[in-house]
Amino acid sequence: MSAGRTPIAAANGKAEFVPGSLRVHVITWGCQMNVYDSDRMTDVLATAGYGQAASPAEADLIILNTCHIREHAAEKLFSELGRLRRLKESRAAAGGRLRLAVAGCVAQAAGAEILARAPFVDLVFGPQTYHRLPSLLARVEAEGTAIDTEFPAEPKFDFLPEQRAGATGPVAFLAIQEGCDKFCSFCVVPYTRGAEQSRPAAAVLTEARQLVASGAREITLLGQNVNAWRGAGPDGKDWTLARLLRALAEIPGLLRLRYTTSHPRDMTDALIAAHGEIPALMPFLHLPVQSGSDAVLTRMNRRHRAADYLRIVERLRAARPDIALSSDFIVGHPGESAADFAATLALVRAVGFAQAFSFKYSPRPGTPAAAAPGQIPEEEKKTRLATLQALLREQQGRFNQTMVGRELPVLFTGPGRHPGQLVGRSPYLQPVHLDAPHAWLGSIRSVRILAAHPNSLAAASLQPQEHAAA
Ligand code: SAH
Ligand code: SF4
Ligand code: F3S
Repeated sequence: MSAGRTPIAAANGKAEFVPGSLRVHVITWGCQMNVYDSDRMTDVLATAGYGQAASPAEADLIILNTCHIREHAAEKLFSELGRLRRLKESRAAAGGRLRLAVAGCVAQAAGAEILARAPFVDLVFGPQTYHRLPSLLARVEAEGTAIDTEFPAEPKFDFLPEQRAGATGPVAFLAIQEGCDKFCSFCVVPYTRGAEQSRPAAAVLTEARQLVASGAREITLLGQNVNAWRGAGPDGKDWTLARLLRALAEIPGLLRLRYTTSHPRDMTDALIAAHGEIPALMPFLHLPVQSGSDAVLTRMNRRHRAADYLRIVERLRAARPDIALSSDFIVGHPGESAADFAATLALVRAVGFAQAFSFKYSPRPGTPAAAAPGQIPEEEKKTRLATLQALLREQQGRFNQTMVGRELPVLFTGPGRHPGQLVGRSPYLQPVHLDAPHAWLGSIRSVRILAAHPNSLAAASLQPQEHAAA
């Protein structure tokens, strides 16, 4: 037990903690939206007097912010809860108290089941209700447990406090859109995150200015379908993502912009053109395709064909010739034949990816694909995944190798692996390691790339002066 959290004896004999000295520890799994949400949960809890605990052992409240995207997520949750249960029991035996909360997409999908299977959990809440955390914790105090997996009419963003000054490093996330109306056959996100919702441009611009004021130099706009963002502009007009990016690029001190994750359906002409017109928009795009077979894409309800994807890539490269592409792939979706899988490999060869994520299809209860005929045996999925990943690794290695000898502007974001080293980000989202002074953190400097590794680059310093942009 750390200083400042000394239990005091209450009249009823139970241990209580000194008000204002409570601490929360958030454990985050899943996508970047969950990382953003976890930060915002700590902002909300700061208004209720919670500081941050560096480890579970120092916390009065532990929140597990979970992901439901693939099967192993739930098993991971229950095994982590088993460990935290022991911590909770030993805390209770020592006269203290630990609250356990489960948040995120597993909480949304399986709220009541979590409380039934793990009754020592105090609080369960979904991705759309964390602005209510102070009142939910009050309910836990009064009633023992609380569950809130509503999709409230009021958008939570209207109730979140400002991000805490100084809490941001040189790179920050900013959620501009949430939810999904696309209903891909395999995916739980439309059920766990609810319908697509965009935040108004003015709210996004205000949050971006706050992030820059507290040190952000690069902002990644987040959304489950971020390029479907449509918001009211401060000029009263309906803005698109391309228009929003232009406005963000004008914020002094905001040097780099990215956005993720996009759907090929919403890659409009204006957005593609923006890649050639906005220098702060980094030449890297994560654009999930899932499969290269039209038959599988149809079964997946993706509403784009392989040729549509290739055409988008071609137009992106015409607008910004050095743009690097990343994608998501699923192998072994129900009904995927050997020829369908070969079409995915052909698409990968045709595009040439700088980076990619690939997964074995994982049946999710309640989604159409889980009940579809033609489920692929596990062994076959494994073999296909290994084949695809070998090709993607080779492409990533080749892409990284093209950087060797080049001069790149790198934004330094944190300490490197070794003492005296810093790590930064290239425009193409590659981690770059360099021996450099701590004072370079948060600045962009030109470096010479000396070597390429599978997932990172090594560099030598070229230019001690700070860049004003890019
Ligand atoms: N458009 C979303 C996608 C979220 S899910 C976004 O904002 O990122 C991330 C990726 O997980 C998907 O692109 C897909 O490739 C993979 N995925 C989703 N459901 C899956 C499932 N049931 N099995 C395997 N992979 C899945
Ligand atoms: Fe899931 Fe498809 Fe929506 Fe992405 S677009 S979140 S894969 S349903
Ligand atoms: Fe996972 Fe939910 Fe994100 S299911 S991928 S945490 S939207």
